[in-house]
Amino acid sequence: MSELNKIALKILNNGKGILAADESTSTMTKRLESVKVQSTAENRLLFRETLFSASGMTEYIGGVILYDETIKQITSKKNKIPELISAMGSAPGIKVDTGAKVLAGSPNEKITEGLDGLRERLKEYYKLGAKFTKWRGVYNISKDHPSKLSIQSNAHALARYSALVQECDMVPIVEPEVLMDGDHSSKECYKKTSEVIKRCFEELILHKVDLKGLILKPNMILAGSNSKEKISKEEVAKLTLKCLKESVPSEVPGIAFLSGGQSEIEATENLNLISKYNDTKFIMSYSFGRALQQSALKFWSQDTQKNIEGTQKIFNQRAKMNSLAAQGKWSKELES
Ligand code: 13P
Repeated sequence: MSELNKIALKILNNGKGILAADESTSTMTKRLESVKVQSTAENRLLFRETLFSASGMTEYIGGVILYDETIKQITSKKNKIPELISAMGSAPGIKVDTGAKVLAGSPNEKITEGLDGLRERLKEYYKLGAKFTKWRGVYNISKDHPSKLSIQSNAHALARYSALVQECDMVPIVEPEVLMDGDHSSKECYKKTSEVIKRCFEELILHKVDLKGLILKPNMILAGSNSKEKISKEEVAKLTLKCLKESVPSEVPGIAFLSGGQSEIEATENLNLISKYNDTKFIMSYSFGRALQQSALKFWSQDTQKNIEGTQKIFNQRAKMNSLAAQGKWSKELES
């Protein structure tokens, strides 16, 4: 077993998943302002430190994706953030792309940037303790989108990123996110997501990326958020599994879904059925941002100094529910 494969498995084994706490400062500002908390570096740290020191980290969270600001911050107890995460038994990771910008030649689509100087930045993150990394490509669905240009150029960037990350002895999370926004059908989502993922793997193979040493972070197959289609959770699970079975090479050790704007319970319920019906060798788990943090953030915002324990309790419960879901052992009754 290669070292990278071992890291990937350690992050996702035993029902563990990933906490995506890598919101850029501007996204985190939106999240904090939505609960009426001022977005200062101190407040961003305080909320994140609250989650990272929660007991649920040890049992349910195999890895935490950090943002550049956070990986360099020092906690109130004078610990470095990656050290705190490692001490809790989890692996520190880092988002290394620098965001999605307008794609020249297709102004309604985006291309993710951040390849220039990446090799040097990776060395720095490795020294700071990062064991894995993330890069997100983003695609929207409409009649003409995602275009061939967007599918091709984002796959190329994801592959070049992955090759550089493995060269630096870290596990790349490959995240091609086909957005939920729009009125498209689940069938359309299935078709476009399949095309996007297949193209990513063609490019990853071309760039000689070790498929055993990466984690795929895809969207689930859902109907668009403005679609009138009624699709059952069973159907979501079956379509998602069909898409992944057809598009992902069997060497890939694990798949960790993004939540993509689903509610906390919806994301958990869908993951549970995907895991329950999972007839592949892939570990199915979570790499949730909003679906792990929303309720905790809301509670914390009511009194950011005093509500630490209560916030951790809420986070522990969400992490536990998702961990059960990753093993197909979740049920609604367990939520109360
Ligand atoms: P969500 O689970 O909130 O979609 O965030 C996951 C993520 O990391 C998006 O890049």
